[in-house]
Amino acid sequence: MKISCQNQDFEKDMQDLVNLFYEDCPFSIEHSFTKEKSHIESKISIFDSEKPIINTVCFDLPADVDALQEKSLLKRNFKNQLYKILSEITGKSLPWGSLTGVRPTKFARDLIEKGEIKPHLLTETLVKDYHLSIEKAKLVAQTLSNQKCIIKNDKLVDLFINIPICPTRCNYCSFISNELWTVKDKIETYLECVFKELDAMKKLIAEKSYIVRTIYIGGGTPTVLSAEQLDRLLSKISYPVTEFTVECGRADTITREKLEVLKNHGVTRICVNPQTFCESTLKKIGRKTTNKQVLDAYMLAMEFDFVVNMDIIAGLGDERLGIFKRTIKTLLELYPQNITVHTLSVKNAAQIRGQEVKYAGDVPKMVEFAQHTLLENGYKPYYIYRQKHQVGGLENVGYCRDENVCIFNVDSMEDTSSVIAIGAGAISKRVFNLENRIEREPNCKFIPDYIDRIDEMIEKKIKFFS
Ligand SMILES: C[S@@+](CC[C@H](N)C(=O)[O-])C[C@H]1O[C@@H](n2cnc3c(N)ncnc32)[C@H](O)[C@@H]1O
Ligand code: SF4
Repeated sequence: MKISCQNQDFEKDMQDLVNLFYEDCPFSIEHSFTKEKSHIESKISIFDSEKPIINTVCFDLPADVDALQEKSLLKRNFKNQLYKILSEITGKSLPWGSLTGVRPTKFARDLIEKGEIKPHLLTETLVKDYHLSIEKAKLVAQTLSNQKCIIKNDKLVDLFINIPICPTRCNYCSFISNELWTVKDKIETYLECVFKELDAMKKLIAEKSYIVRTIYIGGGTPTVLSAEQLDRLLSKISYPVTEFTVECGRADTITREKLEVLKNHGVTRICVNPQTFCESTLKKIGRKTTNKQVLDAYMLAMEFDFVVNMDIIAGLGDERLGIFKRTIKTLLELYPQNITVHTLSVKNAAQIRGQEVKYAGDVPKMVEFAQHTLLENGYKPYYIYRQKHQVGGLENVGYCRDENVCIFNVDSMEDTSSVIAIGAGAISKRVFNLENRIEREPNCKFIPDYIDRIDEMIEKKIKFFS
């Protein structure tokens, strides 16, 4: 299948939309448009073996839009046009309608802030103008109402430290992370570079009067480090924050000694991720943990009084709805403060890419079951994000109970706070709230390059935040 657009800026977005309808689209698509002052005529032609289908729509751009706004409005209209055509041809509708490449809540907040949508008409507008299902439109509205933690202040920053190392690799994983054995001899040098970055950023934070609001040590699996290494790392971080998360993730890396270290250094929140409570699935997906390890780690976490998040994924292995329901029920018995329900994304997961997800048809029902059951049991959605290649074009949703939102997660997904990001693969972000603009500054992705180019990255980051 080939999609060609007169303006290449729109090609990728339109292709993303086509990919949600077809694994292998059976026809080629051409898009062209004309612009006469503010009047636009957009033409989409679909070529299959028979007569081409030609669809033309006209619309007017509002007066006084700048180039960036114009591009975004054109893109939105063209995608809506293509969505309607594909929906008609296939008889299918997508849960997120014509929305691709945007974070749904950020998109909705922007429209509200710009006055393009009245807050009380949000659900209806998302359904009518963007073709979201009523359930997803309501989810957006509910999630927005649970994001009261957002503070837009350019002096506030979140601190992120990346430890892209795991004991072993899970075969569904779409993140860049290194198996421990492949980097064992580099860990000490890696930590020294992280310390160097932390020292430089500490100086910068003081000089520029930034205020660190939250800290997140993620990965990978930071608790793959020894208790002594964690102790050294955490000794370098001494900001008085009320939210400090460490992604422990893999239960086979969690020990009493390590949790003691985390507690002593002011960590408030940890993740202990089952992904599923079905042990035969765990074997199939190459995740070398057992339910007993997860439960033991969770009990330990409760002893230390951490806020706990648990991640699960809908669509793993050959799980059907019944198995997934059991995972949700087990989670409810444990009753952690946060539960994050992911939908399997097959992006970059080399070992499962190209293989069909066996019971893809069950996945929307899983996600719906999770949402209903968690809401019924007092959980609230507080952040949403979508990745490419998620089964059924679905999403990931973070739920919390008792106001335990993770501010860092909200800030990162909504782009409401700058992030000073440290370590290989970490991407710093600077938010200019008044100008409604963000900039990004990535570190080197891979550990050896990160080590080789540490001074250069520090220098760039100092400039970036100055
Ligand atoms: C950055 S990973 C780190 C988690 C931690 N290392 C662990 O495995 O528990 C965060 C979460 O992303 C989710 N995830 C990873 N690969 C995924 C995929 N291909 N599709 C959907 N979710 C995925 C998993 O739920 C995982 O817990
Ligand atoms: S899911 Fe977690 S433990 Fe597994 S490879 Fe990905 S980051 Fe590592």
